[in-house]
Amino acid sequence: MHVPVMLNECLEYLAIRPDGVYLDATCGLGGHTGAIANRLTTGFVIACDRDAESLARAQANLEQVDMTDPRRKRIRFHHLPFSLVGESLKAEGVPQLDGLLADLGVSRYQLTEGERGFSLMSDGPLDMRMDRSQGRTAADIVNYEPEKQLADLIFQLGEERRSRRIARAIVRARPISTTGHLAKLIENAVPRTGKIHPATQTFMALRIAVNEEREELDVLLAALPSLVKPGGRIVVLTFMSLEDRVVKHAFQAMERLGEARILTKHVVRPTEEEIGVNAPSRSAKLRAIEMKDEHLP
Ligand SMILES: C[S@@+](CC[C@H](N)C(=O)[O-])C[C@H]1O[C@@H](n2cnc3c(N)ncnc32)[C@H](O)[C@@H]1O
Repeated sequence: MHVPVMLNECLEYLAIRPDGVYLDATCGLGGHTGAIANRLTTGFVIACDRDAESLARAQANLEQVDMTDPRRKRIRFHHLPFSLVGESLKAEGVPQLDGLLADLGVSRYQLTEGERGFSLMSDGPLDMRMDRSQGRTAADIVNYEPEKQLADLIFQLGEERRSRRIARAIVRARPISTTGHLAKLIENAVPRTGKIHPATQTFMALRIAVNEEREELDVLLAALPSLVKPGGRIVVLTFMSLEDRVVKHAFQAMERLGEARILTKHVVRPTEEEIGVNAPSRSAKLRAIEMKDEHLP
C-alpha cells in the first residue's frame, strides 16, 4: 500500500471548497484522491493516472467513498498521461478547475512489483513503463541506444558522474533483459560508495527517459494557467532535486507574469514524525501557488 505523502499539507494548501472540481493528476493508489473526495459535497475530483493497473487498484480502494450516494460520483477516473489532462476536463464538461494536485514520480506499489521493472531490489523484466500499453521500455534503451547517448542520458537525467563507465559496461554486456542483470553489471563496473546501490541513479535516469517525465512535467506546468481558475490552488510534490527546480522556476515565472501568487515562500518538507512512520516521504518537497485573475492588480 502506498501511504499518501504530506497529506495534511496538501489538503491545507489546496483549501478545498466542498462544491469545487479538483484534479488529482497522479492518482496512484488513490490516497490523496480519497482524502480530497471526502471533503467534497456537490463537487468532484477527476483522478488521472497513466498506469492502468494503479488506477484499477485506486478504484477498488476508493469504492467506499462513493457508496454514500450512488447517484453522484465524487471521483471520476481517467486513464491518461497528465500532459493530456485537458481532455479529461473536456470529457467531464469542466471549463476550469478549483484546484490541482500532482504527486510526481512512482508509487510504492510500482516500485515493489518486480515485474514492473522499476526496482533494482527485486528481479524482473527491464520494463519501467508506467503505461504498459505504449512506448519503449528500459530494455529498448539499454540494448539499442548508442554508448555516447546512453552516457549522456545517465549523466543528465540521473546526475550520475560515473555515466561513461556505466554506459561502457552496459554496451559490453548486451543483451540485457532483467533488472537484476543490469543492477549487477553496474555494481561490478563502479564501486559502491556508502549505503546507496551504485545503480540507483542509472535506474532513475532510465525511468525518467522511458516515461518522458521531463517533457510531461513541462507540458503540465505550461498548461496550468488555462487549467485552473483564478483563486484556484495548485500543489506539486516532487522527490528529485532536478524536478523541484523545474517546478520552482515555473512558479516563479508565473508570479512574475502576474498569473499566480506563490503560497510557499520556502519549500515545505515533511515533518520528522511523518518521515519516522513513512521513510519514502523523506525526500518530498511541496510547493503551492494560487492562480490570480490576470485583469486584477
Ligand atoms: C507518487 S505516485 C502517486 C501516489 C498517490 N498520490 C497516492 O496517494 O496513492 C505517482 C503516480 O503518478 C503516476 N504518474 C507519473 N507520471 C505521470 C504522468 N505523466 N501522467 C499520469 N500519471 C503519472 C504514476 O503512475 C504513479 O501512479
